[in-house]
Amino acid sequence: MDNFYQTSLFFPMPTVIISTLCEDGTTSLGPYSLVQPYYVAGKDYYAMLLCCRNSSNTAQNILRNGKCALNFIDDSKKSFHEAVKLSWPGDKPSDKMPRCNFRLEKSQIEEQTGEKRPMVLTDAIQAIECTWMRSLDGADADQPGQLSGYEGPYHDFNGITSKFGAHFILRVDRILMKKRYSDAIINGVRACDFPPLPVDYGYRDSKNFWYHKKRRMRAELLQVRKASLESVRYAADRADDKVKFTDDALQTILGVPRVFLPVVLKGCVSWAKENNVTLITAEHMKIINDKRAKEKAKK
Ligand SMILES: Cc1cc2nc3c(=O)[nH]c(=O)nc-3n(C[C@H](O)[C@H](O)[C@H](O)COP(=O)(O)O)c2cc1C
Repeated sequence: MDNFYQTSLFFPMPTVIISTLCEDGTTSLGPYSLVQPYYVAGKDYYAMLLCCRNSSNTAQNILRNGKCALNFIDDSKKSFHEAVKLSWPGDKPSDKMPRCNFRLEKSQIEEQTGEKRPMVLTDAIQAIECTWMRSLDGADADQPGQLSGYEGPYHDFNGITSKFGAHFILRVDRILMKKRYSDAIINGVRACDFPPLPVDYGYRDSKNFWYHKKRRMRAELLQVRKASLESVRYAADRADDKVKFTDDALQTILGVPRVFLPVVLKGCVSWAKENNVTLITAEHMKIINDKRAKEKAKK
C-alpha cells in the first residue's frame, strides 16, 4: 500500500519542524519525519534527504528559494501537539502561523552574511540549516506553482519525483545545538546526556499521530578486535617503498579494523612525505592523529 512505512510497518522516525522562507520573506513551519542523513562521508559536503508532498508549503518554498532549517523538537506533549497542529494539508502559512506557539529566532547565517534565511526554532534541541542541491539529478528546472500535481517526466531521487511527491537532497550548511548537548558530544556522552527526542511512528488508522518519549539509554560495548603486530607490520611494509614504521608506531593502530588499515597507512605515508620523514615513530603517529582531529574539528 502507498505510504507502506506507516500502513504496513512499525517504522521509528524522528520528528522535525522544517522552517522555510515564503515569497513575502516570512517563515513557515511544517512537521516532517521522512528526513535522514544522505551524504555522510567521502563527498565535498554532508547532506540530508527529505521526502515530502510536492504541493506542501515546505516543498514549494524549497523549490522557490532552496533554503530550509530542520528543527528537532523535544518529546514533550506540548511540543508534539504543536507539531501536529501544523500538519493539516492545504493550510497556508497565513492560516497556521498566527496560531503557532513555537518561538522563532533569526538564523545565525543570516546574521553573519546578510543572506535571507528561514528563522529557526528557539527551543529546538538541535537544528540543521540547509540548502537544496538543485543541480543533482538535473532538478534545476523544477519550479514551484503547480499545486494540483506535476506531470512527468520525473526525477529519480531529487526534485519532483512523482505527480504528488518530491525528494530534496539538502546540503548541511550549519548545525546549531543547545550547549549542554554539544558539550556532551565534545566531552563524550553518558546515558544521561542524550537529549529527549521523540520517536515518531506516523499517522495511523486515519486518526492519530503516534510517538513515544525518550527512554533510558543503554550502551552496548563494541569489543575491539586487536590485530597482531605481525599482521599490521605485513601491511605497513608494503604501504610504501621508502617510508617505514617502527613497532611502537604500529602498536598505536592495532585496533584499526582490517578494512580501514590501507587508508590509515596511506594517510601516514603522505604525511611522512610532506614532512621528509622516512621512519614513522609513535610520536609521529601522535602528530598525525592530532592533525586529523584538528582537521575534523575545523570542518
Ligand atoms: C509528525 C509528523 C510527521 C510528518 N512527516 C511527513 C513527511 O515526512 N513527509 C510528508 O510529506 N508529510 C509529513 N507530514 C505531513 C505534513 O506535515 C503535512 O503535509 C503538512 O501539511 C505539511 O505542512 P506544509 O504544507 O506547511 O509544509 C507529517 C506530519 C506530522 C504531524
